[in-house]
Amino acid sequence: MDARRAAILDAIGIDRFVARRGAAGAESAPDPGVAEASSPAPARRRPIRAPAVAMPAVATPAATTVADDVATLDWAQLEGRVAACTRCSLAATRTQTVFGTGDRRARWLLVGEAPGADEDRQGEPFVGRAGQLLNSMLRAAGFERGEVYIANVLKCRPPANRDPGPEEARCCLPYLHRQIALVNPDLVLCLGRIAAQNLLGVDTPLGQLRGRVHRLAPLGTPVVVSYHPAYLLRSPSEKRKSWADLRLALETARGQRA
Ligand code: URA
Repeated sequence: MDARRAAILDAIGIDRFVARRGAAGAESAPDPGVAEASSPAPARRRPIRAPAVAMPAVATPAATTVADDVATLDWAQLEGRVAACTRCSLAATRTQTVFGTGDRRARWLLVGEAPGADEDRQGEPFVGRAGQLLNSMLRAAGFERGEVYIANVLKCRPPANRDPGPEEARCCLPYLHRQIALVNPDLVLCLGRIAAQNLLGVDTPLGQLRGRVHRLAPLGTPVVVSYHPAYLLRSPSEKRKSWADLRLALETARGQRA
């Protein structure tokens, strides 16, 4: 492990992980240094993957009753549609929509819950304290923030940072599904219960969603679930588990490319 990596892990308060050189098999956790060595990810255009042959149940995007053409929009059209959105009542209280940020050809796509006050003001996801921690964790995994794509389930801030309502999520999810389809990442990382439950269309507790790889229709894109950075700020003792989630994500994404 190089000095920079060690310093980052110390800074975010999680144990340093040193891979066993030459260790093989599932027991050997991936060496984040390898991921770093291959970053920044080279510009690429992957062919659309066929779904893996043997995979667990594929989560189908939650049904939406909003009849629309979101699934056919290109980036510019989608961004415009989100900016003008009035599908739910959050349009009345937002300062601006928060579309998403990062590399639109990224290998990893991160999904958060909804903009908070800072994001509502600045128009970018994860720019507050939780965002600082997220950036540190990404660096520990070998990525700079700009090398991944970051979006939220909701594009508008719920007043007083309350949880997204089911109707708000239902209205907004088609935008996230289209972002995922356009990026076509190797891996989706859900940050927190709200992101995971809405994207996977389940109400399973977070603890049961972590630690395994889910698949998202239509392409069988792998989804790994971890804690929300804001939760980790309140419960730093859980950072160790979030590092285990990141290692699972690294391992899974690497498998996609093999
Ligand atoms: N929390 C989220 O889930 N998303 C943000 O963009 C900021 C905080």
